[in-house]
This record gives sequence, C-alpha cells and structure tokens, in this order.
Amino acid sequence: MSAITITPAARGLHGAFAVPGDKSIAHRALLLGAIARGATVVEGFAGGADNRATLDACTALGVAITTTGATLRIDGRGWDGLRAPGATLDCRNSGTTIRLLAGLLAGRPFASRLDGDASLRRRPMRRVLAPLARMGAAVVAEGADDRPPLRIAGRPLGGAAHDLPVASAQVKSALLLAGLQASGVTSVTEPAPSRDHTERMLAAFGARLTRASRTVSLVGPQELRGTTVMLPGDFSSAAFLIVAALVVPGSELRLPSIGVNPTRTGLLDALAMMGANVDVELEPDAGGEPRATVVVRSARLHGASIGGELLLRAIDEFPILCVAAACAEGRTEVRDAAELRVKESDRVAVMAEMLGRLGARVEELPDGLVIDGPTRFGSATVDSHGDHRIAMAAAVAALVGSAPVTITDAECADVSFPGFYDLLRRATAP
Ligand code: S3P
Repeated sequence: MSAITITPAARGLHGAFAVPGDKSIAHRALLLGAIARGATVVEGFAGGADNRATLDACTALGVAITTTGATLRIDGRGWDGLRAPGATLDCRNSGTTIRLLAGLLAGRPFASRLDGDASLRRRPMRRVLAPLARMGAAVVAEGADDRPPLRIAGRPLGGAAHDLPVASAQVKSALLLAGLQASGVTSVTEPAPSRDHTERMLAAFGARLTRASRTVSLVGPQELRGTTVMLPGDFSSAAFLIVAALVVPGSELRLPSIGVNPTRTGLLDALAMMGANVDVELEPDAGGEPRATVVVRSARLHGASIGGELLLRAIDEFPILCVAAACAEGRTEVRDAAELRVKESDRVAVMAEMLGRLGARVEELPDGLVIDGPTRFGSATVDSHGDHRIAMAAAVAALVGSAPVTITDAECADVSFPGFYDLLRRATAP
C-alpha cells in the first residue's frame, strides 16, 4: 500500500477495540530485558516497525528473544551477555531506538555503529551526545551537525549530574542507561516532567533509583533482574480513535486497557478544555503503569489555548490535536511546540500544510499553530511525509470530512499502529 483513500464515516465509529501495546514501554521492556539477568516476558507486543528495530538490534547484540504471537521472551544474561554486533544497527525510523541504544552501548566494552532511515538521519543527537561525553563516553556523529549515523567506542563511564535544557524522555532514558553502567551517582534534572516509563520500569526490574521533583538519580553500577511486563494499549494510538469518535457525529467507542500514565494523557486534558467529556474507567495497575477503559462519544468542541506542560504531556498527540482544533468552533492556539519540528517530520509545518489543503484556516507560528474552526474538510490529496502520526491524523480528518481524502505514503502508520486502517474500517462499518 503506498496511497489510501478514506471516505467520510456516514454513521460514526462504533464498538469496542483493543489498540496495539504501548510502543514507548515496549522499547524499554526490550532494552531492560536485554541487559537484565534472567527471563523477561513481555505481553501485548504489537510488533510495529519501530519496536522491531529495537528487537532486531537486541538480537544483533547477542540477546536470545523468542516471539509467540504477542508474547516475547527475552533471555537476558546481564550486561556481560551483550556482544559486539557484526554490522551497523539499523534503528530505521525510531528516535527512541537510536537515543536509548546510544546510552546503553556507550559503556559496553566494544564498538558499535547506529544508523537509520532518511528521517532519522535528520534528527538532532547533540542533546544525547553532549551529556554522554560528560560521563566519559566516546559517541560521535558521522552526519553534519551531530546527526546520525553514530559511532560508539564503548568505554568505562563515570556518573554525572545532568541538567537538561530540553525535557526529553529519550535523553533522560539514555543517560539513565549509561548511569546504570557508570561508577558513582548519575542524576538527571529536567525543566519539566517528560514521560516516566523508564523510571517505573527500572524499579520493576529491581533497580534502585530515587525520584525527587524533577530529578531522578541512581548509583552505578547496577544489575537488573528479568521480570514480566504487561504492555497497556498505547495511549498515543488510542488518541486517533478518541478524536475520531469525538468529531464524527453519532459515534460511541470503548477502548479497554489503555495506558493512562499522566505523563502521556495531556490530550485528554486539552480535549476537556475544548468541551469533550471522555470517560476514563480505571482498571487495576499492571507493572507500575496505570490503565483504563476509555469511553468516547461525539461532542461539540470549542477552541482553547494549549501549551506549556500540558503540551509536553501530549507531545506525540500534536497532529491529532490539530485535527480536533480544526473541527472545533472558534480559535485554538497550540503553542510551545517547537520540539515538534524535529520529530519524524517537521510536524508544525506538515500539519499547517495538511490542514490548509483540507480547507482549514491555519496560521503557522515558530512554536505552533493558530487554527480557526470549525472546518468542513474537503477532498484533497495529502502526503504523510513518511510520518506515521501525520498519516493517521489525515485519516481521521477524512472520516469527518465531506469528501474522500487520499493519503500518499500511508503505510508508515505501521511504525506504531499495525492494522490502523483496518481497525478504522471495522469501527466505521455500516
Ligand atoms: C519518547 C519520547 C518522546 C516522544 C517519542 C517517544 C520515548 O521524544 O516524542 O515519540 O519513548 O521516550 P523526546 O524524548 O524527543 O521528547
């Protein structure tokens, strides 16, 4: 599939659907399982392309992983179980894979090289290379301006106190993975709290770490113990269905077992400010991550001002939030989103272009968008720019529009949400 045409959903979205297991948590389960001693079992592994990049990298590092349906078994043999990869590790489209591996491999006693696709080669790595260097790491970028590929000469590391200029869970996690191998104290202080899956999962793997306000610290070196990880449904995947059900009249969707870690659910708060009433029915926690059944019915949305810490908790939901904003009555401003320019695509520019093509009134700012709604989206061909979340945001706009929308390079949705278009077809079937 290279292009897909999506027609408006005549009678809304209906039913109960499981969404794929959380991609962000799955990367961490694979990497912590790979360095832990003993078996780690991961339940609910969706096998999207990003997670496969991490899985394949772990295999290339000598870790035995078996897959049975949606269950992974990782037979970790501790830090010393990792061996030099025979070739460059291909991180494909995955920023989490390359940045976390940079921290993990920086302290191993062998050389390695990390590369990825054209999009990954455009993404900034200085934010992880500079703090790693302060721990004694020798990780250098081969691309201009500290872009991938990355070449790592593994060597002993020392702990360091890091004060990050940009809140980033990927950078924080890379430094914690380096800190686990380093001698002494490693601490990471963020300007605002980014997602905390690594901290929660490290505790589940038996690591000792302390968390105080915006700082997390640990004393290295430490060994991890394998455990069982039950992945919740990925909130960032559910987000497309949540907004679709809100904006397409006559919808009612139930989404069971969705991860509702508060560092991830800023979209729900933003939508509440816009007049949505989404029910979150809490389920028992599993593996230190809260989960819930999310129930969504159509609603009339109005404009709101969204930015700051709220936007950080909705960092990956910017594209779909902008679709919701274009459907809302009145003006919505989404600000403090400059980081979105260095994701899988420049999501600020790409969303401005997409919404404009679909007929929305949108103004691009350096750090976000101003959108005047409501818009009745028209027929258009829009390009995903190879960005999974852009493709899926366009599909939701098509469902609520007045005419078919063609999305080119649509198959990239598989990066995080295998089966997305099929699920939309089932949810909108007459
Ligand atoms: C992620 C962190 C965020 C997010 C990305 C996944 C993670 O990136 O946008 O999709 O799994 O740690 P940054 O750390 O660059 O903010």
